[in-house]
Amino acid sequence: MKIKNICCIGAGYVGGPTMAVIAKNCPEIQVTVVDINPERIANWNDENLLKLPIYEPGLDKIIAQCRGKNLHFSTDIPNFIKSADLVFISVNTPTKTSGIGAGQAIDLKYVEESSRIIAKYANGHTIVVEKSTLPVKTAQTIKEILDASTMNNEEENKSFSVLSNPEFLAEGTAINDLVNPDRILIGGEDTQAINALVEIYSNWVDKDKVFTTDLWSSELSKLISNAFLAQRISSINTISALCESTGAKINDVALAVGMDKRIGSSFLNSGPGFGGSCFKKDISNLVYISNHYGLFEVANYWQKVLDINSWQQKRFVELIVKNMFGTISSKKIAILGFAFKANTNDTRESPAIYICRKLLEEGAFLNIYDPKVSSAQISKDLNFSNNQMLNHNWSFSNSLDDAFRNVDAALILTEWNEFQSLEWRNLSKLMRKPAWVFDTRSIVNIEEAQQYGMKVWQVGYGN
Ligand code: UDX
Ligand code: UDX
Repeated sequence: MKIKNICCIGAGYVGGPTMAVIAKNCPEIQVTVVDINPERIANWNDENLLKLPIYEPGLDKIIAQCRGKNLHFSTDIPNFIKSADLVFISVNTPTKTSGIGAGQAIDLKYVEESSRIIAKYANGHTIVVEKSTLPVKTAQTIKEILDASTMNNEEENKSFSVLSNPEFLAEGTAINDLVNPDRILIGGEDTQAINALVEIYSNWVDKDKVFTTDLWSSELSKLISNAFLAQRISSINTISALCESTGAKINDVALAVGMDKRIGSSFLNSGPGFGGSCFKKDISNLVYISNHYGLFEVANYWQKVLDINSWQQKRFVELIVKNMFGTISSKKIAILGFAFKANTNDTRESPAIYICRKLLEEGAFLNIYDPKVSSAQISKDLNFSNNQMLNHNWSFSNSLDDAFRNVDAALILTEWNEFQSLEWRNLSKLMRKPAWVFDTRSIVNIEEAQQYGMKVWQVGYGN
């Protein structure tokens, strides 16, 4: 089976970059990314590459190279499903906000909706691939919806194979992760369909990096990979507090621990807790699944990983208030970084949201600066529906100078490159004294800042 036309439903942080890399490496395949959101599609099609809806280093180059040739963006979902031999489902899978499993279970309505659309418009044999991270056994739901559509249409000769092919890319390094993946995981039952997908990846990925298994192991492996990564961050963040109490240095502890190759050095940076669209949602889902199977100890264990994440953020707010003479009411704070990590404009589950909301509730005024997040996005994230006054207690800064003017403190929340070499000589002059910097990412050169009169608090460093 040779794939000629691919359609991907969902032009988001996963679907967009993934399809761009497939198009770049498979010039003989036509790849179309479809989405229900016309504004998003218009931005993907904009001549001005600065308007791409997603900021991801290296993405603009690939779009410039492939768009209009074998990479297309469209809202015409039926048409492109009709002509596709392979459809990726890459829609968002949010946590349920109400009803059974609220706050933990994943809401599969978009996946279900996508399956129904595929069932309706697909033609001939279609391979349907789950790209989104989904709870184990979701492929069963997709299959049932697709199979129901084949029952009464013998003359159309519709048939489907369902595969799981979870994406492991991390935002900010998406293109590199897609071009040089640690592994490609494919789960399924239909060998022909599996081989067709393997062939696509083998255009740029070594065959020994492609691991094939059954549907359920593939779905579960993705959830568990995220759980293990998130657990490391919660572990190191508990130690950051211990370092602050004892005078040990978190970065040195992380380095010493990480030098044991069984533990490894990556993913041991202490900070304001993990954010992003995946970790909280996936660990909540793991807790939900474990409770569902009556494995309460397992559920409690993973719940603790989430609890430590919230505790780290709460702890930071409390220590900022404590250090600023017990009150931040009517004080001004510069917020440096709003994205959940550097090199992305994504703010989903960003620690900045919780921390800024709490600082506003304590009465502070915030100057918020992020090189890639828009004022409109911050406004959406910080909206207090029941307290209009708080909605006006922050402003968007276009530059570092703007952000630092007349503030009592600067709070670093994202590890953007430009925050790693702040010019304290000039910036400290713009601030009210005593001037604080609270560094939740451990990137400030403490001695240099102190030299210009700054009082410094840094995660994982005590005295
Ligand atoms: C999402 C999930 O968060 C993640 O768990 C999963 O692994 C991959 O999908 P992401 O690509 O970052 O990740 O989501 P998002 O940026 O929100 O993009 C999803 C897109 O799907 C949106 O543009 C949305 O408009 C579109 N969509 C959603 C549809 O086209 N049809 C739908 O029915 C629902
Ligand atoms: C993650 C997984 O890495 C990826 O494999 C999966 O497909 C989707 O979820 P992403 O959410 O884009 O990717 O970002 P990641 O780099 O994993 O960071 C997640 C959070 O952990 C960020 O808030 C980051 O700041 C935090 N983090 C990461 C730390 O606090 N310390 C670290 O050492 C690493």
